[in-house]
Amino acid sequence: MSSNPLQHGISAPILATYGLSVHYGNRPALEDISLSIEAGDVVGVLGPNGSGKSTLLQVFAGMIPPSHGSCSFNGREITAPTPGITYVPQRAGASWSFPISVIDAVLLGLGRSTPRYRGFGGNERRRAFEALRHVEMEQHANVQIGALSGGQQQRVFLARALLSGGSVLLLDEPFTGVDIPTQTLFVSLFDDLKARGMAIVYATHDLDQARSASDKAVLLNRRLIAIGEPDEVFQSSNLQEAFAGNVIVIDDSATTHPSTATVNRR
Ligand SMILES: Nc1ncnc2c1ncn2[C@@H]1O[C@H](COP(=O)(O)OP(=O)(O)O)[C@@H](O)[C@H]1O
Ligand SMILES: [Mg+2]
Repeated sequence: MSSNPLQHGISAPILATYGLSVHYGNRPALEDISLSIEAGDVVGVLGPNGSGKSTLLQVFAGMIPPSHGSCSFNGREITAPTPGITYVPQRAGASWSFPISVIDAVLLGLGRSTPRYRGFGGNERRRAFEALRHVEMEQHANVQIGALSGGQQQRVFLARALLSGGSVLLLDEPFTGVDIPTQTLFVSLFDDLKARGMAIVYATHDLDQARSASDKAVLLNRRLIAIGEPDEVFQSSNLQEAFAGNVIVIDDSATTHPSTATVNRR
């Protein structure tokens, strides 16, 4: 217990991994990752397909155990899904095979803090509407969620995450397959949440998005290639290492700040 930095008055990073490895069967998906994330950080996790981005988010979400090393939230080991850490899966993974209205889907964000299901009260509904207003979806409150576009569904997911009120928000590819207005809205929401001291960690395969929407970047390819300021992390040598020839860096002139880069997508 004496190793808990909180007891010494030193603030622990909100999220940290130390020597983290994850295996699926015998195959490593992440190897020896050590990093830390502070409250108020907006962190873009970038890497090619299969580089372990989703795996890293799911370790933070307490859904996948490390095979080696450790992973902590406010200095405490993460061993299971934790209140305070909200995880929004990649949209492609969600299926809406049962009918549910938008407002009810948002109210599910209260699930963990509601002792048992007995309908939601007026105050809870007001907070859910407020969360929907944040993502400009309140006019769709009573629509069936299956009838919404991908971008609108993603907004609803985010409203649900807002209502759950954690201090860490994990988003798997929130910008994939959503329209530009939704992307813009998400970026301004990130700023809002950051100002409230929340840490946001999101996976993306879009380099420009990661550069413009994050104040810290993590570049992965099973191993940690770089972490830090986006402009430093996205130096062409790091990108070449991560994408192994599948990256074209345009206008990487004398500086170490490529102004434009394109990542080939499969
Ligand atoms: N449930 C799983 N079972 C077995 N292998 C998996 C599973 N999930 C991911 N993998 C493998 O782990 C590696 C990393 O996957 P993932 O974390 O999804 O990467 P990314 O999100 O960067 O595309 C890939 O090789 C992938 O095939
Ligand atoms: Mg993924």
